[in-house]
Amino acid sequence: MRQAVAFWLLILATLLRGSVQGPHQRYLLKELLRDYNPMERPVANDSQALTVHFSFTLIQVMDVDEKNQILTTNAWLQMQWYDHYLQWNQSEYPGVKNLRFTHDQVWTPDILLYNSAHDKFDATFKTNVLVNSSGFCEYLPPGIFVSTCNVDVRWFPFDIQRCELKFGSWTFDGWLLDIQMREADVSGYMPNGEWDLMEVPGGRNEVFYDCCAEPYPDVTFVVTLRRRTLFYALNLLIPCVLLSSMTLLVFLLPANSGEKISLGITVLLSLTVFMLMVAEIMPATSDSVPLIGQYFASTMVIVGMSVVATVIVLQFHHHSLNSGQMPRWVHLVLLQWVPWFLRMKRPGEGAEPTLSSSQADSHSKTLSSPPATKSQCPAGELGAAQPPSVPPTSSTPPEVPDYQPWAGQQRVYPEHTGAATGPCGLDPGGGRSAALQSHSGMMRSVAVDNQLQALLTEVQFLVERVREQDRQLSLAEQWQFAAAVIDRLCLVGFSVFNIICTIAILMAAPNFGIA
Ligand SMILES: *[C@@H]1O[C@H](CO)[C@@H](O)[C@H](O)[C@H]1NC(C)=O
Ligand SMILES: *[C@@H]1O[C@H](CO)[C@@H](O)[C@H](O)[C@H]1NC(C)=O
Ligand SMILES: *[C@@H]1O[C@H](CO)[C@@H](O)[C@H](O)[C@H]1NC(C)=O
Repeated sequence: MRQAVAFWLLILATLLRGSVQGPHQRYLLKELLRDYNPMERPVANDSQALTVHFSFTLIQVMDVDEKNQILTTNAWLQMQWYDHYLQWNQSEYPGVKNLRFTHDQVWTPDILLYNSAHDKFDATFKTNVLVNSSGFCEYLPPGIFVSTCNVDVRWFPFDIQRCELKFGSWTFDGWLLDIQMREADVSGYMPNGEWDLMEVPGGRNEVFYDCCAEPYPDVTFVVTLRRRTLFYALNLLIPCVLLSSMTLLVFLLPANSGEKISLGITVLLSLTVFMLMVAEIMPATSDSVPLIGQYFASTMVIVGMSVVATVIVLQFHHHSLNSGQMPRWVHLVLLQWVPWFLRMKRPGEGAEPTLSSSQADSHSKTLSSPPATKSQCPAGELGAAQPPSVPPTSSTPPEVPDYQPWAGQQRVYPEHTGAATGPCGLDPGGGRSAALQSHSGMMRSVAVDNQLQALLTEVQFLVERVREQDRQLSLAEQWQFAAAVIDRLCLVGFSVFNIICTIAILMAAPNFGIA
């Protein structure tokens, strides 16, 4: 009997529960939506504003398009408000804690991204609105937001971009819909390889237009991104620094290798390639020249100037010798002042003491030759032979330091002339003529004299020739040394310029650093 009663009670209880549990939600939905108009702003008092709390959850920065000035982000919006008409007594509808409505069943705020660049403008996915019994609505539409962003590439690749995302109601003013900001949430942020997220500060602004007295509030989040520089340092900066130091190698290359110009032009061309790469990334704007563009441009100027300087160096190196002496100021500047300043030694300058000693040797040889030859040749022969041989030997030593003080080849010259005009070179002819003059008649002596004169002219011609050759050689060496001086000057100058450019331009970035 008791068991039967208990059994019936149990069946009744299950029937009751079953009949109560299921229909509550249906009744409630029917009840709530019966008079509901999604156009109606859900407030108790129409003259009061509906407060919508707005927040922004950044999931991912998908792209920063510098060229089109577009930021693409993956984010969720969060809107919370109280709907006056979506409240119910929880004890009347047991088990129904919350309800979900599609976005067109209930009122939703028409909050849009103002600076959207999406082709459908509103890029959010319309999710359901979650409502609990106190009428608290929560709407979390996710979306891929494409927004305009003023990407300033002035400090590229050491730049920080601040991209604004401005949200606001499209039709409600501040007296009808009061949008209040909640801090942006970046706890679920997915790191980006190119950009470091620094912060996402937000702010609520109110704009007043001329037409109306009511404010138009909006909430603006500023996605602050810092470019990670390692990629650009590896792919643009290091090659550029290398190429600009290559420029210096142009000045180290010897002029007679014939490769100076081609090296300079090659460096110039490779720089152009890198510059094109940079230009491809950068927006085609003249508002601000990117830092790296400035660096490339200055490097290009350096390389271009080095090519010009190389042409001048080569011009000096292969200078035509027929144009005569080097101009005085060129001689003064390039052969004296600049080498002194750069501590450059002329080739053979270190050997100058030996040159003077060998000169002295040849001097002493010519001076000491009379006693030596006196024993071999008759005294009369020597006296007659010496006068013609003296002028070249006595005139050459003062001439030598004048224009070839450093030429190593010049050492040959006095010895050469010494040998050519030496006592034994001319003495036999001179001695014989003197002997013949004293012994035979005038006719024979005149013939011999003519012969001797011809020989003398010949020797003088040879001497002149050798002297001219030496002069040309020394002149050529002067020009070549001048070329070497210019080369060294350019090397020093361009090194300094290069270092200054690199430091001044790259360190000028407000947030220089490789990360
Ligand atoms: C609505 O709000 C206004 C101002 O807040 C107030 O003056 C008015 O009495 C309210 N009306 C009702 C019906 O409560
Ligand atoms: C909710 O309903 C219960 C039972 O019907 C009632 O006792 C209670 O007062 C109601 N609460 C409100 C806030 O209306
Ligand atoms: C509805 O949600 C809001 C916000 O979470 C909360 O403050 C409120 O107490 C909730 N109402 C009920 C009945 O749980």
